Amino acid sequence: MRICIIGAGYVGLVAAACFAEMGNRVICVERDPLRVARLNRGEATIYEPGLQPMLSAHLASGHLSFSQHLAEGVAECEVVFIAVGTPSGEDGSADLSHVLAVAEELGEILQRACVVVDKSTVPVGTAERVAQRINRRLEQRGKGFQIAVASNPEFLKEGSAVDDFMRPDRVIIGCDDLASTELLRRLYAPFLRNHERLLCMSARAAEFSKYAANAFLATKISFINEMAGLCARLDVDIEEVRRGIGSDSRIGTHFIYAGCGYGGSCFPKDVRALIRTAEQEGLEPGILRAVEARNALQKTWLFQLLREHFSGHLQGRVVALWGMAFKPGTDDLREAPSLVLLDALLAAGATVQACDPVATAGVAARYGQAVASGQLRLSESPYSVVEGADALVLVTEWKQFRQPDFTRVRALMRMPVVFDGRNIYDGRQLAELGFLYRGIGRPVLGRCMVRAA
Ligand SMILES: NC(=O)c1ccc[n+]([C@@H]2O[C@H](COP(=O)([O-])OP(=O)(O)OC[C@H]3O[C@@H](n4cnc5c(N)ncnc54)[C@H](O)[C@@H]3O)[C@@H](O)[C@H]2O)c1
Repeated sequence: MRICIIGAGYVGLVAAACFAEMGNRVICVERDPLRVARLNRGEATIYEPGLQPMLSAHLASGHLSFSQHLAEGVAECEVVFIAVGTPSGEDGSADLSHVLAVAEELGEILQRACVVVDKSTVPVGTAERVAQRINRRLEQRGKGFQIAVASNPEFLKEGSAVDDFMRPDRVIIGCDDLASTELLRRLYAPFLRNHERLLCMSARAAEFSKYAANAFLATKISFINEMAGLCARLDVDIEEVRRGIGSDSRIGTHFIYAGCGYGGSCFPKDVRALIRTAEQEGLEPGILRAVEARNALQKTWLFQLLREHFSGHLQGRVVALWGMAFKPGTDDLREAPSLVLLDALLAAGATVQACDPVATAGVAARYGQAVASGQLRLSESPYSVVEGADALVLVTEWKQFRQPDFTRVRALMRMPVVFDGRNIYDGRQLAELGFLYRGIGRPVLGRCMVRAA
């Protein structure tokens, strides 16, 4: 099939590469000229496992290309995906300006019928608004055809985006037009060979399903984090509780890990947008507000532990951070918990030595001044950043940090203290090695005298 994808961001680029992998001819239209130039040179603009080889292979085979020009992109396409950003507006609602601008442009330039698909996460009713914009303009131009608009929300997870797209848990197609639904069913058939999980529904239900899914997952995280808060007070290990409840199939083992809060480009903004939708409907979104408030609090937890440990005096302390990306497997820093911690540490006068396998360039771009002054040092080596540190904080659970040589770490640190923001370490083992260990909602283990800074 000939496909056009508008927006070469996280979703657009992954979708483009994966559709090309299945033998489609894909042209990806991106308004940022630098991004287009890099992609056409074969450079993946995001870090995502498996993406780079696909990009190189399909640029070379001619199945994938990038352009700045929408008219070129849609010229011969049967399906046009809209995959542009829908960031939070000032009041928390989804900012649809990019999506609606694309709709206007499509109405202006389409010369033949095709199916337009909203892949961006958009509020209920957006497919209708996009269809109205395109079709009104087509009518003004005297074109003798109308466009059907479908909703096809994306459920990929950053860090395993290519895998998720190639083997989706489900594909949702929200569309009232039978012929368009059939075309999309054919497009997705190769991705669903092993299990038929294509769900067809109204566009409005598809749009809402995406928000409800993200809000539910965020709720699970905030729930377990609240339980962790209680565990910390009651001298109970949340990890034991997690295992205790996760074995119940009604609860399940996913998304019940206590930690330092959720971040990323989706959960925070989608929870905010759903809160705004409820408000607009005159409803009180009590659960969603609590989920958001808990998460904001959670992102400050590690800093509170550090402040408590150093009796409020962080000035002159050296803190090592392992992991800056909002989750492992990506270089995405959007709304990452690490940034809240980093801001607080820098403001308190600590020196931070941070390590991330792929996100240090993004951190350097945001914190140029702190890097220039030497208050923030970045490295890709986990051992170099613990040298001379008064505390080590694990923020993002990259595989590289899962089983480090703690004897070596202890020898390099000034003070052997570990704050485990993702509860991945065995605190007893660390205590035996001479560390003081503090997790999220776990008993404090080991001892360490705080030396004067
Ligand atoms: N990132 C994720 O993990 C994820 C997962 C599922 C759904 N989503 C949703 O998918 C949508 C896109 O998210 P993303 O993370 O890929 O965003 P992104 O910000 O990474 O990418 C959006 C891209 O669209 C481009 N763009 C904007 N307007 C354009 C236009 N008129 N023409 C051409 N290009 C244009 C931007 O330059 C940018 O490169 C959002 O609605 C998001 O909520 C994201």
